[in-house]
Amino acid sequence: MTVMAAEKKLYEMSREERLDYIRKVTRITDGGIEAMLRPLPFEDANRMIENAIGIMSIPMGIATNFVINGRECVVPMAIEEPSVIAAVSNAAKIAKVKGGFIAEADDSLMIGQVQVVGLGNVKHAMTKILRNKKQLLATANSNSRSVTAVDLQVRQLRDKSPNNMGNMLLVELVIDTKDAMGANAINTMCEAIAPQVAEITDGEVVLKILSNYTTRRMVRCRATFDKEQLGGSQIVKRILYAYALAYSDAYRAVTHNKGVMNGIDAVALATGQDFRAIEAGAHAYAARDGTYRSLTSWRRTKEGDLAGGIELPLAVGVVGGVVKSHPTAKFALQILGVRSAKELAMVIAATGLAQNLAALRALSSEGIQAGHMRLHARKFSK
Ligand code: MEV
Repeated sequence: MTVMAAEKKLYEMSREERLDYIRKVTRITDGGIEAMLRPLPFEDANRMIENAIGIMSIPMGIATNFVINGRECVVPMAIEEPSVIAAVSNAAKIAKVKGGFIAEADDSLMIGQVQVVGLGNVKHAMTKILRNKKQLLATANSNSRSVTAVDLQVRQLRDKSPNNMGNMLLVELVIDTKDAMGANAINTMCEAIAPQVAEITDGEVVLKILSNYTTRRMVRCRATFDKEQLGGSQIVKRILYAYALAYSDAYRAVTHNKGVMNGIDAVALATGQDFRAIEAGAHAYAARDGTYRSLTSWRRTKEGDLAGGIELPLAVGVVGGVVKSHPTAKFALQILGVRSAKELAMVIAATGLAQNLAALRALSSEGIQAGHMRLHARKFSK
């Protein structure tokens, strides 16, 4: 897909012109765009959740200028905050000068946890579980056609809470969820093996649930931002000071990462992902060394440009869940042109990195309140 330059800037266009632009750049020929963008009918909402009373609408827009692994794409974002889309489009435009975003994603390996308590000898129980690994995996896999349990691991854990509940065993299924986020399938598998786990260990199974801390399902993205486009080497230096603060101080890191999540959540919401799961995993990862730090990293290159990177656990899906039932989410995935969960994860990571650059650049120059982000973004974006 080639994203053509729009004759007018997107913010100058009418809605119809923007939709025409999307049709052109994505080659979506389907006449159903309007239907896909209509609010969810109440009957659907009522099927989705309990005690439904209406629909909470959030604006959806598109960010432009993204080049990810050499592929140009327009990025749908659902967000209520002004300036976010303009700012991220501007950052993506600057990244484009040096080739855009380079991203990679791990396979979709997730963990499902089965917690066993009341064991006299946890080590002994671990050995017995491992001896029955093949059989447990077979049970897990007999309960799902769409995803595959590829491994099983055991861990001993000691309660660190003030309640002092003692030692416990964790039996963890490692599950390849492929192009699905996978939560339901993982939970089903955990529940399926639980009775066998209890019988083998002679213990009491308590929790049977996926982990949203998906450290085996990471995404990484990097980009270089040209120093002249950023506004000169002084801005590069000031951004590095801003990063120093976000790396070193949790009070700043939380706000820094909030800006990252402006981008990540907006694409996640538009494409029907579980953004609460993404948030929880991202923040745990930000605190992985015991201190809450920036999710992005920044450095100056030999040429004096600004190189940025982001790495985070990210479980998203392009099949199943809301993606299957929500027409707007389907449309958003169509706009993106992603065919796999990995590809979607890479777009989301690139958006988070670009969003962070936009915020840092604005904060390191005139500040946010001057309306800098919006005005500047409009000056640069199509
Ligand atoms: C506002 O939604 C996000 C920012 O506060 C992020 C940041 O401070 O880096 C601008």
